[in-house]
Amino acid sequence: MSVIRTLKDNINILNKRVILRSDLNVPIIKNEIQDTTRIKLCLPFLETLLKQGAKVLLISHLGRPKNSNDKNYSLEPVFKYLKKNIKNNIFFHSEKINSETKKKISFLKQGEIILFENIRLNDGEIQNDDGFAKNLSSIGDIYINDAFSCSHRKQASVHKVTEYLKETYGGPSLIKEVDSLNLIMNNKQKPVTCIIGGSKVSTKLGVIISLIQKVDNLVIVGAMANNFIKYKGLKFGKSLIEKDSEKTISKIYDQLNNSACKIILPTDFVVSNNINGTPIAKNQENIEDEDIILDIGVETLKKIHMTINNSKTVMWNGPAGYFENKKFAKGTIAIAEMITDNTMRKSLTSIVGGGDTVSAIKNSGLNANFTHLSTAGGAFLEYIEGKNLPGIEVLK
Ligand code: 3PG
Repeated sequence: MSVIRTLKDNINILNKRVILRSDLNVPIIKNEIQDTTRIKLCLPFLETLLKQGAKVLLISHLGRPKNSNDKNYSLEPVFKYLKKNIKNNIFFHSEKINSETKKKISFLKQGEIILFENIRLNDGEIQNDDGFAKNLSSIGDIYINDAFSCSHRKQASVHKVTEYLKETYGGPSLIKEVDSLNLIMNNKQKPVTCIIGGSKVSTKLGVIISLIQKVDNLVIVGAMANNFIKYKGLKFGKSLIEKDSEKTISKIYDQLNNSACKIILPTDFVVSNNINGTPIAKNQENIEDEDIILDIGVETLKKIHMTINNSKTVMWNGPAGYFENKKFAKGTIAIAEMITDNTMRKSLTSIVGGGDTVSAIKNSGLNANFTHLSTAGGAFLEYIEGKNLPGIEVLK
Protein backbone atom coordinates (compact mmCIF):
# COMPACT_ATOMS: atom_id res chain seq x y z
CA MET A 1 0.00 0.00 0.00
CA SER A 2 1.32 3.45 -0.83
CA VAL A 3 1.37 6.29 1.70
CA ILE A 4 0.52 8.86 -0.93
CA ARG A 5 -2.39 11.18 -0.10
CA THR A 6 -5.42 10.44 -2.26
CA LEU A 7 -8.65 12.27 -2.91
CA LYS A 8 -11.16 10.46 -0.68
CA ASP A 9 -14.82 10.19 -1.69
CA ASN A 10 -15.87 12.44 1.20
CA ILE A 11 -13.87 15.43 -0.09
CA ASN A 12 -16.27 17.85 -1.71
CA ILE A 13 -14.89 19.13 -5.01
CA LEU A 14 -18.11 20.76 -6.23
CA ASN A 15 -17.19 24.10 -7.83
CA LYS A 16 -13.56 23.69 -6.75
CA ARG A 17 -10.81 24.53 -9.23
CA VAL A 18 -8.83 21.29 -9.54
CA ILE A 19 -5.35 21.46 -11.11
CA LEU A 20 -4.91 18.05 -12.72
CA ARG A 21 -1.28 17.36 -13.72
CA SER A 22 -1.50 14.65 -16.38
CA ASP A 23 1.01 13.26 -18.84
CA LEU A 24 -0.37 14.06 -22.30
CA ASN A 25 3.12 13.83 -23.76
CA VAL A 26 2.10 11.80 -26.81
CA PRO A 27 3.99 11.32 -30.10
CA ILE A 28 2.77 13.91 -32.65
CA ILE A 29 3.92 14.09 -36.28
CA LYS A 30 2.64 16.93 -38.51
CA ASN A 31 -0.13 17.73 -35.99
CA GLU A 32 -1.34 14.10 -36.00
CA ILE A 33 -1.28 12.15 -32.73
CA GLN A 34 0.47 8.81 -33.36
CA ASP A 35 -0.60 7.01 -30.18
CA THR A 36 -3.42 8.06 -27.87
CA THR A 37 -2.71 5.59 -25.01
CA ARG A 38 -1.68 8.27 -22.50
CA ILE A 39 -4.70 10.49 -23.27
CA LYS A 40 -7.12 7.55 -22.99
CA LEU A 41 -5.62 6.61 -19.62
CA CYS A 42 -6.32 10.07 -18.24
CA LEU A 43 -9.97 10.19 -19.36
CA PRO A 44 -11.79 8.07 -16.71
CA PHE A 45 -10.49 10.14 -13.78
CA LEU A 46 -11.06 13.39 -15.67
CA GLU A 47 -14.68 12.31 -16.18
CA THR A 48 -15.05 11.44 -12.47
CA LEU A 49 -13.89 14.94 -11.50
CA LEU A 50 -16.29 16.54 -13.99
CA LYS A 51 -19.24 14.44 -12.77
CA GLN A 52 -18.52 15.62 -9.23
CA GLY A 53 -18.80 19.23 -10.40
CA ALA A 54 -15.13 20.24 -10.37
CA LYS A 55 -13.70 22.93 -12.62
CA VAL A 56 -10.76 21.07 -14.13
CA LEU A 57 -7.52 22.87 -15.01
CA LEU A 58 -5.66 20.32 -17.08
CA ILE A 59 -1.86 20.65 -17.21
CA SER A 60 0.72 18.65 -19.16
CA HIS A 61 4.08 18.99 -20.83
CA LEU A 62 4.81 17.90 -24.40
CA GLY A 63 8.31 16.91 -25.41
CA ARG A 64 11.32 19.07 -24.65
CA PRO A 65 10.81 22.50 -26.29
CA LYS A 66 13.98 24.43 -27.14
CA ASN A 67 12.57 27.78 -25.97
CA SER A 68 9.33 29.30 -24.67
CA ASN A 69 8.07 30.05 -28.20
CA ASP A 70 8.85 26.69 -29.75
CA LYS A 71 5.70 26.14 -31.85
CA ASN A 72 6.65 22.52 -32.58
CA TYR A 73 5.53 21.54 -29.11
CA SER A 74 1.95 22.79 -28.88
CA LEU A 75 -0.74 20.74 -27.13
CA GLU A 76 -3.31 21.95 -29.65
CA PRO A 77 -3.66 18.51 -31.36
CA VAL A 78 -4.37 17.04 -27.91
CA PHE A 79 -6.99 19.74 -27.32
CA LYS A 80 -8.70 18.82 -30.61
CA TYR A 81 -8.69 15.16 -29.61
CA LEU A 82 -10.20 15.92 -26.20
CA LYS A 83 -12.85 18.19 -27.71
CA LYS A 84 -13.96 15.34 -29.96
CA ASN A 85 -13.96 12.76 -27.20
CA ILE A 86 -15.38 14.58 -24.18
CA LYS A 87 -18.97 15.82 -23.98
CA ASN A 88 -18.24 18.57 -21.44
CA ASN A 89 -17.18 22.08 -22.45
CA ILE A 90 -13.42 22.32 -22.92
CA PHE A 91 -11.33 25.45 -23.59
CA PHE A 92 -7.69 25.88 -24.64
CA HIS A 93 -5.56 28.45 -22.79
CA SER A 94 -2.70 29.20 -25.17
CA GLU A 95 -1.22 32.07 -23.11
CA LYS A 96 1.55 31.75 -20.55
CA ILE A 97 0.53 31.29 -16.92
CA ASN A 98 1.17 34.41 -14.81
CA SER A 99 -0.40 36.49 -12.02
CA GLU A 100 -3.27 37.53 -14.37
CA THR A 101 -4.30 33.98 -15.29
CA LYS A 102 -6.56 33.42 -12.29
CA LYS A 103 -8.75 36.37 -13.37
CA LYS A 104 -8.70 35.39 -17.03
CA ILE A 105 -10.06 31.92 -16.37
CA SER A 106 -12.73 32.96 -13.87
CA PHE A 107 -15.43 32.31 -16.54
CA LEU A 108 -15.04 28.54 -16.02
CA LYS A 109 -18.14 26.76 -14.68
CA GLN A 110 -18.46 23.49 -12.79
CA GLY A 111 -18.08 20.43 -15.05
CA GLU A 112 -15.93 22.36 -17.54
CA ILE A 113 -12.25 22.02 -18.45
CA ILE A 114 -9.42 24.27 -19.48
CA LEU A 115 -6.45 22.59 -21.13
CA PHE A 116 -3.37 24.77 -20.69
CA GLU A 117 -0.72 25.02 -23.41
CA ASN A 118 2.43 22.89 -22.91
CA ILE A 119 3.56 23.78 -19.39
CA ARG A 120 7.23 23.64 -20.46
CA LEU A 121 6.66 26.71 -22.66
CA ASN A 122 6.44 28.72 -19.41
CA ASP A 123 9.72 30.14 -18.10
CA GLY A 124 10.27 28.67 -14.67
CA GLU A 125 8.62 25.27 -15.18
CA ILE A 126 11.78 23.28 -15.86
CA GLN A 127 13.77 25.33 -13.34
CA ASN A 128 11.20 24.48 -10.60
CA ASP A 129 11.00 28.24 -10.09
CA ASP A 130 9.34 29.55 -6.97
CA GLY A 131 7.62 32.54 -8.61
CA PHE A 132 6.19 30.46 -11.43
CA ALA A 133 5.00 27.77 -8.99
CA LYS A 134 3.19 30.49 -6.97
CA ASN A 135 1.41 31.79 -10.10
CA LEU A 136 0.50 28.25 -11.11
CA SER A 137 -0.85 27.40 -7.67
CA SER A 138 -2.95 30.59 -7.60
CA ILE A 139 -5.24 29.31 -10.38
CA GLY A 140 -6.46 26.29 -8.36
CA ASP A 141 -7.87 25.18 -4.99
CA ILE A 142 -6.78 21.53 -5.17
CA TYR A 143 -3.81 19.92 -6.92
CA ILE A 144 -3.75 16.34 -8.18
CA ASN A 145 -0.74 14.67 -9.79
CA ASP A 146 -1.91 11.77 -11.94
CA ALA A 147 1.29 11.64 -13.99
CA PHE A 148 3.62 9.02 -12.53
CA SER A 149 5.67 9.21 -15.73
CA CYS A 150 6.80 12.81 -14.96
CA SER A 151 7.21 12.39 -11.22
CA HIS A 152 10.98 11.92 -11.49
CA ARG A 153 11.21 15.52 -12.71
CA LYS A 154 11.84 18.23 -10.13
CA GLN A 155 9.82 20.72 -12.14
CA ALA A 156 7.31 23.33 -10.97
CA SER A 157 4.07 21.62 -12.05
CA VAL A 158 5.17 18.35 -10.43
CA HIS A 159 7.14 19.53 -7.42
CA LYS A 160 7.26 23.19 -6.31
CA VAL A 161 3.57 23.91 -6.94
CA THR A 162 2.63 21.58 -4.06
CA GLU A 163 4.27 23.99 -1.57
CA TYR A 164 1.60 26.61 -2.25
CA LEU A 165 -1.60 24.57 -2.15
CA LYS A 166 -3.18 23.16 1.00
CA GLU A 167 -4.76 20.16 -0.69
CA THR A 168 -2.41 18.06 -2.84
CA TYR A 169 -3.07 14.45 -3.86
CA GLY A 170 -1.94 11.59 -6.06
CA GLY A 171 -4.45 10.56 -8.73
CA PRO A 172 -5.63 6.97 -9.39
CA SER A 173 -3.28 6.23 -12.33
CA LEU A 174 -0.27 7.39 -10.32
CA ILE A 175 -1.33 5.28 -7.32
CA LYS A 176 -1.89 2.23 -9.54
CA GLU A 177 1.61 2.55 -11.03
CA VAL A 178 3.26 2.93 -7.63
CA ASP A 179 1.29 0.06 -6.03
CA SER A 180 1.93 -2.31 -8.97
CA LEU A 181 5.65 -1.53 -9.08
CA ASN A 182 5.96 -1.91 -5.29
CA LEU A 183 4.17 -5.24 -5.37
CA ILE A 184 6.41 -6.60 -8.12
CA MET A 185 9.70 -5.19 -6.80
CA ASN A 186 9.05 -6.42 -3.26
CA ASN A 187 8.28 -9.97 -4.44
CA LYS A 188 10.56 -10.32 -7.44
CA GLN A 189 12.10 -13.73 -8.01
CA LYS A 190 15.53 -14.49 -9.44
CA PRO A 191 16.93 -14.70 -12.06
CA VAL A 192 16.03 -11.10 -12.87
CA THR A 193 16.67 -9.76 -16.38
CA CYS A 194 16.57 -6.11 -17.31
CA ILE A 195 16.27 -5.18 -21.00
CA ILE A 196 17.13 -1.58 -21.76
CA GLY A 197 16.83 0.07 -25.16
CA GLY A 198 15.68 3.29 -26.75
CA SER A 199 17.55 6.43 -27.64
CA LYS A 200 17.34 8.65 -24.52
CA VAL A 201 20.82 7.33 -23.78
CA SER A 202 22.28 9.90 -21.40
CA THR A 203 19.41 9.59 -18.93
CA LYS A 204 19.61 5.79 -18.83
CA LEU A 205 23.34 5.11 -18.59
CA GLY A 206 23.41 6.21 -14.93
CA VAL A 207 20.44 3.98 -14.13
CA ILE A 208 22.24 0.99 -15.65
CA ILE A 209 25.14 1.42 -13.21
CA SER A 210 22.88 0.99 -10.20
CA LEU A 211 20.80 -1.80 -11.77
CA ILE A 212 23.90 -3.96 -12.19
CA GLN A 213 23.90 -4.71 -8.46
CA LYS A 214 20.20 -5.66 -8.55
CA VAL A 215 19.79 -7.86 -11.62
CA ASP A 216 21.31 -11.08 -12.98
CA ASN A 217 21.23 -10.23 -16.70
CA LEU A 218 21.42 -6.91 -18.42
CA VAL A 219 20.36 -6.88 -22.08
CA ILE A 220 21.23 -3.72 -24.00
CA VAL A 221 19.43 -3.02 -27.29
CA GLY A 222 18.40 -0.06 -29.46
CA ALA A 223 20.49 3.07 -29.95
CA MET A 224 21.74 2.52 -26.39
CA ALA A 225 23.77 -0.50 -27.60
CA ASN A 226 25.61 1.55 -30.26
CA ASN A 227 27.58 3.29 -27.50
CA PHE A 228 28.76 -0.04 -26.11
CA ILE A 229 29.71 -1.22 -29.61
CA LYS A 230 31.75 1.95 -30.16
CA TYR A 231 33.37 1.60 -26.73
CA LYS A 232 34.51 -1.91 -27.61
CA GLY A 233 36.17 -0.57 -30.75
CA LEU A 234 33.74 -2.37 -33.10
CA LYS A 235 32.20 -0.93 -36.26
CA PHE A 236 28.98 1.10 -35.93
CA GLY A 237 28.89 3.02 -39.26
CA LYS A 238 26.77 6.20 -39.08
CA SER A 239 24.59 4.94 -36.22
CA LEU A 240 23.21 7.23 -33.49
CA ILE A 241 25.83 7.71 -30.78
CA GLU A 242 25.74 9.72 -27.55
CA LYS A 243 28.60 12.22 -27.20
CA ASP A 244 31.05 11.54 -24.36
CA SER A 245 29.45 8.28 -23.25
CA GLU A 246 32.84 6.51 -22.88
CA LYS A 247 33.37 7.49 -19.24
CA THR A 248 29.95 6.19 -18.16
CA ILE A 249 30.38 2.97 -20.12
CA SER A 250 33.79 2.42 -18.58
CA LYS A 251 32.12 2.80 -15.13
CA ILE A 252 29.46 0.29 -16.22
CA TYR A 253 32.18 -2.26 -17.07
CA ASP A 254 33.93 -1.58 -13.72
CA GLN A 255 30.64 -2.36 -11.95
CA LEU A 256 30.09 -5.47 -14.09
CA ASN A 257 33.55 -6.77 -13.16
CA ASN A 258 32.61 -6.51 -9.49
CA SER A 259 29.25 -8.22 -9.80
CA ALA A 260 27.68 -11.47 -10.97
CA CYS A 261 25.56 -9.61 -13.52
CA LYS A 262 25.96 -10.74 -17.15
CA ILE A 263 25.72 -8.25 -20.01
CA ILE A 264 24.18 -9.26 -23.33
CA LEU A 265 24.87 -7.00 -26.32
CA PRO A 266 23.64 -7.32 -29.92
CA THR A 267 25.97 -9.17 -32.27
CA ASP A 268 23.97 -8.89 -35.49
CA PHE A 269 21.77 -6.14 -36.85
CA VAL A 270 19.36 -4.81 -39.42
CA VAL A 271 20.95 -1.79 -41.09
CA SER A 272 20.19 0.66 -43.87
CA ASN A 273 21.77 3.81 -45.27
CA ASN A 274 18.83 5.97 -44.14
CA ILE A 275 15.88 5.61 -41.76
CA ASN A 276 13.45 5.02 -44.66
CA GLY A 277 15.80 2.75 -46.61
CA THR A 278 15.79 -0.96 -47.37
CA PRO A 279 16.56 -3.20 -44.36
CA ILE A 280 19.67 -5.36 -44.72
CA ALA A 281 20.68 -8.04 -42.18
CA LYS A 282 24.37 -7.85 -41.22
CA ASN A 283 26.76 -9.36 -38.74
CA GLN A 284 28.92 -7.04 -36.66
CA GLU A 285 32.04 -7.49 -38.78
CA ASN A 286 30.21 -6.62 -42.02
CA ILE A 287 29.02 -3.18 -40.89
CA GLU A 288 30.20 -0.51 -43.33
CA ASP A 289 30.83 3.23 -42.92
CA GLU A 290 27.50 4.22 -44.53
CA ASP A 291 25.38 1.79 -42.47
CA ILE A 292 22.96 2.93 -39.78
CA ILE A 293 22.02 0.28 -37.22
CA LEU A 294 18.20 0.37 -37.06
CA ASP A 295 17.22 -2.93 -35.44
CA ILE A 296 18.67 -6.05 -33.82
CA GLY A 297 19.23 -9.21 -35.87
CA VAL A 298 18.01 -12.82 -35.67
CA GLU A 299 21.02 -14.18 -33.74
CA THR A 300 20.69 -11.48 -31.10
CA LEU A 301 16.98 -12.26 -30.75
CA LYS A 302 17.83 -15.94 -30.18
CA LYS A 303 20.15 -14.95 -27.29
CA ILE A 304 17.49 -12.67 -25.81
CA HIS A 305 14.91 -15.45 -26.14
CA MET A 306 17.14 -17.86 -24.20
CA THR A 307 17.73 -15.26 -21.48
CA ILE A 308 14.00 -14.56 -21.11
CA ASN A 309 13.24 -18.30 -21.00
CA ASN A 310 15.68 -18.68 -18.10
CA SER A 311 14.35 -15.70 -16.13
CA LYS A 312 11.65 -15.47 -13.45
CA THR A 313 11.39 -11.68 -13.59
CA VAL A 314 11.89 -9.46 -16.67
CA MET A 315 11.89 -5.67 -16.69
CA TRP A 316 11.95 -3.99 -20.10
CA ASN A 317 12.25 -0.34 -21.05
CA GLY A 318 12.99 1.09 -24.49
CA PRO A 319 12.54 -0.26 -28.03
CA ALA A 320 15.15 -2.43 -29.76
CA GLY A 321 15.25 -0.39 -32.96
CA TYR A 322 13.80 2.46 -35.00
CA PHE A 323 10.24 1.18 -34.46
CA GLU A 324 8.64 4.31 -35.97
CA ASN A 325 9.35 2.62 -39.33
CA LYS A 326 7.61 -0.80 -39.37
CA LYS A 327 10.55 -2.30 -41.30
CA PHE A 328 12.74 -1.79 -38.24
CA ALA A 329 10.17 -2.67 -35.55
CA LYS A 330 10.58 -6.45 -35.81
CA GLY A 331 13.09 -6.79 -32.96
CA THR A 332 10.90 -4.77 -30.59
CA ILE A 333 7.77 -6.75 -31.49
CA ALA A 334 9.65 -10.07 -31.16
CA ILE A 335 10.77 -9.14 -27.62
CA ALA A 336 7.17 -8.18 -26.72
CA GLU A 337 5.99 -11.58 -28.04
CA MET A 338 8.64 -13.49 -26.08
CA ILE A 339 7.76 -11.73 -22.83
CA THR A 340 4.01 -12.15 -23.45
CA ASP A 341 4.44 -15.87 -24.15
CA ASN A 342 6.53 -16.47 -21.01
CA THR A 343 4.18 -14.39 -18.86
CA MET A 344 1.21 -16.46 -20.00
CA ARG A 345 2.76 -19.95 -20.21
CA LYS A 346 5.46 -19.94 -17.56
CA SER A 347 4.17 -17.35 -15.08
CA LEU A 348 7.07 -15.02 -15.72
CA THR A 349 6.67 -11.75 -13.81
CA SER A 350 7.07 -9.00 -16.41
CA ILE A 351 7.16 -5.23 -16.09
CA VAL A 352 7.26 -3.26 -19.29
CA GLY A 353 7.58 0.51 -19.36
CA GLY A 354 8.26 3.54 -21.54
CA GLY A 355 6.17 5.76 -23.81
CA ASP A 356 8.02 4.56 -26.94
CA THR A 357 7.85 0.89 -25.97
CA VAL A 358 4.10 1.15 -25.32
CA SER A 359 3.57 3.00 -28.64
CA ALA A 360 5.54 0.35 -30.56
CA ILE A 361 3.51 -2.47 -29.00
CA LYS A 362 0.11 -0.76 -29.45
CA ASN A 363 0.83 0.16 -33.07
CA SER A 364 1.88 -3.42 -33.88
CA GLY A 365 -1.58 -4.75 -33.01
CA LEU A 366 0.04 -7.48 -30.87
CA ASN A 367 -2.17 -8.84 -28.11
CA ALA A 368 0.52 -8.23 -25.49
CA ASN A 369 0.20 -9.56 -21.96
CA PHE A 370 2.51 -8.36 -19.20
CA THR A 371 2.21 -8.47 -15.42
CA HIS A 372 2.38 -4.66 -15.45
CA LEU A 373 2.51 -2.24 -18.38
CA SER A 374 3.70 1.22 -17.36
CA THR A 375 3.42 4.27 -19.62
CA ALA A 376 6.38 5.74 -17.75
CA GLY A 377 9.93 5.61 -19.12
CA GLY A 378 12.53 7.48 -17.05
CA ALA A 379 10.31 7.51 -13.94
CA PHE A 380 9.81 3.74 -14.23
CA LEU A 381 13.57 3.12 -14.40
CA GLU A 382 14.36 5.44 -11.50
CA TYR A 383 11.63 3.84 -9.39
CA ILE A 384 12.83 0.26 -9.97
CA GLU A 385 16.35 1.52 -9.27
CA GLY A 386 15.08 2.42 -5.80
CA LYS A 387 15.24 6.22 -6.07
CA ASN A 388 12.77 8.55 -4.34
CA LEU A 389 10.92 10.47 -7.03
CA PRO A 390 10.54 14.20 -6.20
CA GLY A 391 6.94 14.38 -7.47
CA ILE A 392 5.92 11.42 -5.30
CA GLU A 393 7.78 12.51 -2.16
CA VAL A 394 5.79 15.77 -1.98
CA LEU A 395 2.51 13.83 -1.95
CA LYS A 396 3.37 11.69 1.09
C1 3PG B 1 8.10 10.48 -20.64
O1 3PG B 1 7.77 10.43 -21.82
O2 3PG B 1 8.89 9.64 -20.13
C2 3PG B 1 7.49 11.51 -19.74
O3 3PG B 1 6.47 12.20 -20.39
C3 3PG B 1 8.56 12.45 -19.23
O4 3PG B 1 9.13 13.16 -20.28
P1 3PG B 1 10.57 13.84 -20.10
O5 3PG B 1 11.57 12.73 -20.12
O6 3PG B 1 10.72 14.78 -21.27
O7 3PG B 1 10.57 14.55 -18.79
